[in-house]
Amino acid sequence: MIDKNKYLSEISNAKTLNQIKDIHTSLFGKNGIIKNAFKSLPDNVKKLHENLKDKIQEFTEKCEESKKQIAAELNKIKTELEEAISKKHKQIELSEINDKLQKDKIDVTLPFAPEKQIGLIHPFNRVVEEVCEIFSSMGFSYAEGPHIESDFYNFTALNIPDHHPARQSRDSFYLLNSENLLRTETSAVQIRTMEKQKAPVKIFAPGSVFRNESDATHVPMFHQLEGLWVDEDITMKDLLSVLVSFLKEFFCTDNAPIRIRQHNFPFTEPSVEIDVKYERKNGQIKIGQGDKWLEILGGGMVHPNVLKNVNIDPSKYQGFAFGTGIERLAMLKYGMPDVREFYNSDINWLKHYGFKPYNNPNSQNGLN
Ligand code: DAH
Repeated sequence: MIDKNKYLSEISNAKTLNQIKDIHTSLFGKNGIIKNAFKSLPDNVKKLHENLKDKIQEFTEKCEESKKQIAAELNKIKTELEEAISKKHKQIELSEINDKLQKDKIDVTLPFAPEKQIGLIHPFNRVVEEVCEIFSSMGFSYAEGPHIESDFYNFTALNIPDHHPARQSRDSFYLLNSENLLRTETSAVQIRTMEKQKAPVKIFAPGSVFRNESDATHVPMFHQLEGLWVDEDITMKDLLSVLVSFLKEFFCTDNAPIRIRQHNFPFTEPSVEIDVKYERKNGQIKIGQGDKWLEILGGGMVHPNVLKNVNIDPSKYQGFAFGTGIERLAMLKYGMPDVREFYNSDINWLKHYGFKPYNNPNSQNGLN
């Protein structure tokens, strides 16, 4: 570049015109500095450009170099961190496995795994199932009624007169300050069903009943099975044939001789008690064998008053009814001596008399 200040100071120091002239010539003459400067301008720019290109090249190379350096550095850091993570991962995994092994330690030296507890079916439930199956297969429908009954359904409608001992509160559980009581017999279900369904009706009704009594053959809550078949031409003969079929099925015997004794129930006329032949062999009761008689149920032809009480015309319809104790049936079939044991929740008793759920109804104790 031109040293402007140098020329400015020469100009200012000039004393003569010649001096000025010389300065002018050296600056603006044919070969003057200014002219030359303009002349050499393209070359200078070119040089500058070349120079810059070199610089850029150099700079690019440097950048490339440091890029490589940084990348190598990064790769090193990356590998180091990856290795640290994988090492720690393995360490933690191992210690977790060890913790788990420590906690779930199994003592393989124990001789047996603990025995699985399998529930057993209570003999009472088994007998109810059996009874339901047998009566259903004879075309009877299941029926039920409430445990708390009114005086009407439990007594009056069943033709039980006011003075009858069954009404006395020493046998029955009355609700406080009420005419209602815990039903004393399932016969009340007869009334409720006939009231709703009218005739014909063919039902069986297993259910709880309640009486104030307790000894080896009585408990305050026990279960009865009620049967009722009312139609236009039902006779005592039907009662006996249904009963014999039931006894044969229930006691698994081809032979069930029965004996009929005249009896007296307010809700049937005539009324009978029916016994079945049996013998006791090796402490077990065999139904249908021997020469002894065992009372098995009460029944009879439904009293016309009972039919009238539910608005069924007794001149058109007649039928039989019967009632028996479910625990009693169970005791005769499976040999329990004391009815109180049914409700003592004694696990040993249940293990002895209970049934495995998948066994056939006639096999006891899951043995066969
Ligand atoms: N209810 C009677 C009782 O508890 C059993 C009974 C007898 C029911 C005769 C009946 C029947 O349906 O006709 O002892």
